[in-house]
Parts: sequence; structure tokens; C-alpha cells
Amino acid sequence: MSDVYKDQNPTILVIFGITGDLARRKLVPALFHLHRKKLLPPLFQVIGFSRRHMSDDELRNEVGEMVKIQTGHDATLGASFARMFVYRQGMFEDVAGYRALAESLGRKDNEWRVCSNKLFYLAVPPEHYESIFRHIESSGLTEPCSPEEGWTRVVVEKPFGKDLQTAERLDILLGKLFKEEQIYRIDHYLGKETVQNILAFRFSNSFLGPAWDKKAIEEIRIRLWEADGVEHRGAFYDGVGALRDVGQNHLLQLLALFTMEQPERFDADAVRAGRLAALRSLRPMSRRDIVTRTMRAQYAGYRKARGVAPQSETETFFRITAFLTARRWRGVPMVLESGKNIGSAKAEVEVRFRHAEPCLCPPGSGHVYRNVLRYRIQPDEGVSLSFWVKRPGSDMVVEEKDFSFSYKGSFDPTLFIDAYEKLLMDTIQGNQTLFVSTDEIKASWKFIDPIVEAWRKNAVPLISYEPGSTPGHPKS
Ligand code: BG6
Repeated sequence: MSDVYKDQNPTILVIFGITGDLARRKLVPALFHLHRKKLLPPLFQVIGFSRRHMSDDELRNEVGEMVKIQTGHDATLGASFARMFVYRQGMFEDVAGYRALAESLGRKDNEWRVCSNKLFYLAVPPEHYESIFRHIESSGLTEPCSPEEGWTRVVVEKPFGKDLQTAERLDILLGKLFKEEQIYRIDHYLGKETVQNILAFRFSNSFLGPAWDKKAIEEIRIRLWEADGVEHRGAFYDGVGALRDVGQNHLLQLLALFTMEQPERFDADAVRAGRLAALRSLRPMSRRDIVTRTMRAQYAGYRKARGVAPQSETETFFRITAFLTARRWRGVPMVLESGKNIGSAKAEVEVRFRHAEPCLCPPGSGHVYRNVLRYRIQPDEGVSLSFWVKRPGSDMVVEEKDFSFSYKGSFDPTLFIDAYEKLLMDTIQGNQTLFVSTDEIKASWKFIDPIVEAWRKNAVPLISYEPGSTPGHPKS
């Protein structure tokens, strides 16, 4: 067993919102894979907590179904895994359910004759966070059962707040119940294999070091394009919009990883401090900056989606050109772009290098020989770097080619683990590197808030785009 999986103590995972979309699509399949790989502690129980009435057996049947649908494994395997689940019904706002939960936890500890680890996972819409935090505390669930053994941790999904103020309020509340080292704020992008690789790629390849600043790089473009529309999430999405849904978190985290300084050590504190410094160096946008350097758009037909207001002004696409105050990056545009219903689905970062001076480019053609590094987060995970080469023959003609690396061609696909598997393991093992600190959350809201506010006041018109198109995409 690898050292990273050394905590094998009995553990109980409580999932608030077990019947919801996140549990169904991500958490249950991730737990199933961990179980199959024998990476969960030998004594492990999942308590599903939700509003619906159902029995343990009904939950287990549902879990078996989720496994079948999401992983393609047959019902027998799903059923043996489902036995580790039990169900507790409760309203998120009512303390009674939490008291019953506390009793269940106590009973399990008595049966196991230990003070087990307790992991509380909030897989619920954010409006329930406050009630859940308060009741977890008032029913004694935050109190450790022993000073020597059994930790208590809490996992919180994004969105963490809807602006700086609400994030701070949540944080104060959480801070009263848990220490920062007990709080795991998820940004699932950080758990993706290719996102974990960013620091390895940047800091293990010494040739990149001298080429990683404003002298060598003229622009960084970060894009997260999604082929699907809002589907069945209209009610949630309409109150949030693309910028807060993925900009404040996934895109800014990618920006931080691409621009941060090399951490002194590759441990949680140093890496999180590095990302934080990058986020803090985002230059706040004035109203004028927002008018000239941001755009927002909505796909035609969005207002007809279930749960979406008929007059909705919510953006489903945005593009922002940000700048960092860090000396290394001063003056380099950082273009952040994301949208739903864009036609193709991809997440990638494009690093555009300056062309050499003087340039061998054909005089008067307007052509420049620029190298572009494309870091493909998904799909078709890999990295390519364009370079220029003289075409064989008597003329001096230079052509663009690619150095290219693809994960699929280079590694056994079974080595890949899903982001949620990695993140769940890390919460059990107590490694916070891939989780967002409270200061990172605040720094990102500080940058995002003025943009949301200016858009709300219509400082930037909301334009419409046809599903399957990319609004006003700049030429590459
Ligand atoms: C989530 C957003 O955080 O990220 C979704 O709420 C978005 O709207 C999703 O679709 C994208 O994640 P992934 O892993 O599918 O690229």
C-alpha cells in the first residue's frame, strides 16, 4: 500500500444530499472505484442523508442502479458495494434529523469499538449550507469522540458563496465549527489528472523556466468550452451564470497554476500559498476595464430551458481579458473564456510566445513565426508545441509543425483516476493540496464581484449567440 494511503482507520462518510445529482453522477461512482481498488479503509460506512423517505434497502438498490448506469458494472458488484450504505432521513433545516444521525454514528462506533473518523460531505445546493453547518454543531456532530483518535472533516462543494460577502459569512460560520485544516473546499478541476500535472510540467522541465514570463510570452488564453446547454440545471444555473459557475473557480485556478511562482516545497501549504499569491495579483478591473475588456452572451433558446426565467439576463458565455500585477506577468493579457452550448467541448490553455526579433518572417506578409503551447486538459489530454522549420528545397520557406504529446498514446488508460476519486482519497488521507483555501476563495471573489456587479447594471450588453457557435471568437 502506497504511503499516500496510510490512514486506514475506520471511517464514516456522511453524504448530505445522497439522492442528488452530484452524489449520483460523481460521488457514488468514485466510491465504487475506490472500493474495487481496495483503497477505502477496511471499516468504512456511508450514511446517506436526505429529505426523501426511504429505507436502507431502497437506498442500496438505488446505489446499485447508480453504479450500473454510471460505471457499466453489473448489479452483483454494485450490490456488494451498496451494502456499505445506510440511509437517514432528515430535513436540512430541522435539528431532529441530525440528532438521529449523531446517534447512528455513536452506535456504529460502539459496534466497531473505536472512535472512527467522520467525514461530512455537503453535496447539496448552497442555500442549505448554513442550516447544515449550524445543525452539525448543535447536535454535537463536530465534537470529536476522543482527543487521541478519530478526526472530523467537512467537504464543501462549490459554489462557496455567491460573492465575497456571502463567502466571508459562510467562512466565519465554518471557522467557528472547524479549523482550516478540517475544511476541504472542492474545486474538482484541481483533481483532474491534467490539472495536477500543470506544476509537474512547468517545474520539472527546466527549459520552460526562462521562457515563462512577459519577455517570452505575449498572451495566455484559458478556455473551457462546453457542448451541452444547461440541461436540467436551469433553476440553479440561472441564479449563477457562467462567470460564477466556472470562472470564479475553475478558470481562475487554472490561471493561478499557469502563472504562480515555483513553490518552495510541493506540499499543501506552499502550493496553496503559491496559487493564492497568483490570485491576489489579479489586477482589479475598473468599470472602464469591464466595459472594454469583458463580454457576456447568452445562447438563443436558453430562456426556454426548465427553471430559467423567461426574461433572464444570465450569461451562458463570457470572455474576460485580465492582467496580473506580478512583475513576471505585467502587461501580458490573460484571456479567460467559457461558455455552454458552444458546439465543441474542450478545456485547454494556450500559451502564445512572442515571435523572435528580428523575425525571419516573409517581409511585408504580416506573418510572424510565433510558437504556441497548447495544454489540453480535456478531452484528448496532452500537450503540443508548435514550432517552425524550413521546408526542404531550394527556397527559404518556413512551415509550422508540432511537437506533440498525448496521454492516451503514452500511458496505460487504466492509470487514470477520476477527479472525485482523487479528491475523496485526499480528504480521507488529510492532504489539502488540491483543495481551495479560504484566502484563495476570497481573492477570486474580489476579482469577480465588480464584474458581476457591472454586468448586473448593464454596463456591458448581453449578446445572443446561436447554439453551437462561439460568440465573437478572436482569430488565433
Ligand atoms: C461545474 C459546473 O463546476 O463544472 C458545470 O457547475 C460545468 O456547469 C462543470 O459543466 C464542468 O466540469 P467538467 O469536469 O465536466 O469539465
